[in-house]
Amino acid sequence: MTLPFQHLTSTKQLSRDDTDAILRVAKEMEVVLRSGGDDRLKGKILASLFYEPSTRTRLSFEAAMHRLGGDVVTADGFQFSSLYKGESIEDTIMVVGQYADIICMRHPDAGSADKAASVSPVPFVNAGDGPSQHPTQALLDLYTIQKEHGQIDGLHITMVGDLRYGRTVHSLSFLLGLYKNVSFTLVSPKELTMPQKVTSFFTEKGLKYEEVEEIEEGLHADVVYMTRVQKERFADHSEYERLKLKYVLTTKHLEGKDCIVMHPLPRVGEIDTAVDHLPKAAYFRQAHNGVVTRMALLSMLLGAAK
Ligand code: NCD
Repeated sequence: MTLPFQHLTSTKQLSRDDTDAILRVAKEMEVVLRSGGDDRLKGKILASLFYEPSTRTRLSFEAAMHRLGGDVVTADGFQFSSLYKGESIEDTIMVVGQYADIICMRHPDAGSADKAASVSPVPFVNAGDGPSQHPTQALLDLYTIQKEHGQIDGLHITMVGDLRYGRTVHSLSFLLGLYKNVSFTLVSPKELTMPQKVTSFFTEKGLKYEEVEEIEEGLHADVVYMTRVQKERFADHSEYERLKLKYVLTTKHLEGKDCIVMHPLPRVGEIDTAVDHLPKAAYFRQAHNGVVTRMALLSMLLGAAK
């Protein structure tokens, strides 16, 4: 099973056939993972370049590669990189493409992933480009929603928090737009509303959405997707301090509600830890799904999906 593209920089490039195929392979990877992995990527090398902090994305990409028998070379931290010396992203990628069979990269600048993909001699995957896109997180989120609810069509999704700078909600919105009758409640302060590129996409697709400011107005949903206020994107620190804990989801909010709770993590206070004990709390299951989804993607992009 292959994909009709070599590089993944944005969820906007994915069709429903593509997401169906990735979700199907991810499900197969659950079985592979349970049996301890296999060696379909033996002899292949993933270069993981992280110019912005990451724990779960980097480690789950690397774990996915190891589970399939592949190897990893890694560079993290801007100050250790040749970008720090002034090298362009394009030059870095053309060089790293001589060492590895596939590259994943996280970078603080929106658009950096497209620059990298435009010159990459090997498959390139965006692991987050500034506030813009985070396509592999969106795929694992989609996989989680399907696994938890058994379907995606017809679901009501509430997104809460920093919808302006949160790249995961941007990427996920474009994927959910591939499904039928999905509707949205967007909960954010006025300063952090969903960018117009996403809301105009909903309108174009005929998808219903409402924008509200109070979390209580969004709890009648199938999925409540919480996000962290993205401290690193604020020029004005006092603005961040003012907005950071506008929404804190507690067990009380969830009493009598039928939703699952998702979060790309890390959380910094926006979900009370008491929520973790509820069966509705899906965020750690969601993190598990990151490994199988990335196993699927790596094997498909490297032509090794059965
Ligand atoms: C997210 C990210 O990096 O955009 N984290 C992740 O990849 N799991 C969300 C965040 O940092 O808030």
